Amino acid sequence: MAHMQTDTLISDIDSRTIPYGRQWIDDSDIQAVLDVLRSDWLTQGPKSKEFEDKFASYCGAEYAVSVTSGTAALHLSCLAAGIGPGDEVITSPITFAASSNCALYVGATPVFIDIHPGTICMDPERLAEYLRNRPGVSQDTRPKAVIPVHFAGLPCDMEAIKEAAGGHGLRIIEDACHAHGARYKSGERVGSCKYSDMTVFSFHPLKNMTTGEGGMITTNDPDLYEKLILLRTHGISKINLQDSSYHEDYYYEMQLLGFNYRMNDIQSALGISQLKKLDTFLQKRRETADYYFNAFKGLDDYMTLPPDSNGSHAWHIYVIQLKNNNRDNVFRKLKETGIGVQVHYIPVYLFPYYQKLGYGEGLCPYGEAYFKRAVTIPLYSSINSEDMKFVVERVCEAVKV
Ligand SMILES: Cc1ncc(COP(=O)(O)O)c(C=O)c1O
Repeated sequence: MAHMQTDTLISDIDSRTIPYGRQWIDDSDIQAVLDVLRSDWLTQGPKSKEFEDKFASYCGAEYAVSVTSGTAALHLSCLAAGIGPGDEVITSPITFAASSNCALYVGATPVFIDIHPGTICMDPERLAEYLRNRPGVSQDTRPKAVIPVHFAGLPCDMEAIKEAAGGHGLRIIEDACHAHGARYKSGERVGSCKYSDMTVFSFHPLKNMTTGEGGMITTNDPDLYEKLILLRTHGISKINLQDSSYHEDYYYEMQLLGFNYRMNDIQSALGISQLKKLDTFLQKRRETADYYFNAFKGLDDYMTLPPDSNGSHAWHIYVIQLKNNNRDNVFRKLKETGIGVQVHYIPVYLFPYYQKLGYGEGLCPYGEAYFKRAVTIPLYSSINSEDMKFVVERVCEAVKV
């Protein structure tokens, strides 16, 4: 009988899959959403403004503008920054495609600056070198903005990026879609825009907090704020009217070509509820990362662990790098044994769409080398200790294949 029970247990364990990421939704989140559904406002109402104010205050920024996704946030930031044809937007190759697609949306040219292999974030020295020498994609374009990506939740060296970009008058838009709650070396929260014009967040379910889908832009610049608000709603305004011949209350005017990128009150209520728990989520993510660091000690021959940062990291994902040219085997093995894995990321410019635009292999050697080694293993705020142990056991086995 005891034997049978053990067998059952093993087969149960074998058949489960631990995802690499997932949301944490509890009763208070559900209640917050239900309250909005029972209220008078479904789309932008009191909850949207409350979420923006609370998010801005959490980050230490003056303003926050909620939108439908991180992608919409990047798109509007590029428009608000006045980026267009003939402009270069400089970003990292190791990111989600949206970080550079936003340049294409506005007719600009993405430029990829290689990562630093120690941080997997854009290397500020390479950025400085690029801006000094301009070996550019095309001499018909000029650098206009830089979008550093806080990869995995580790803040980029923003002081160095600002120094490199500042002398060239570049706009700085931080892609903080992995970095809710992270802190710079100087202690301020990412999103405070201490080093940038705007900071962009995503609230996709796999992110550090969620609104289902959603995004946010923070800024300290009142002009950018006004522009973002306009662009989010079709470029339509009822205030600061340009045509003074209308005096009736029905009048509104379209001043810019904008979009409908409004986050609704249902999502905003969920966002407010999630924001209350963000520090707890981060604490749990850090504890899981620490557990992995300790558990993987002694496996240096097989893999490199992610960079730590003395508490400033938001630990959106935990990426190990395989040393023995066996990433695909390890990936497969982990998947087969019930570990949710992913690769963050394929260098963006290697996608067929970018290749057709003229980008090609060899552009960012460190990014390409990293891609061949990387595997993301499960890390999320609701992971339990049994699952963490299971992940460690399976990873320790798999890396030796
Ligand atoms: C680094 C980065 N930038 C931008 C985005 C786009 O965010 P969203 O999925 O909310 O559009 C993501 C989302 O995966 C991301 O990881």
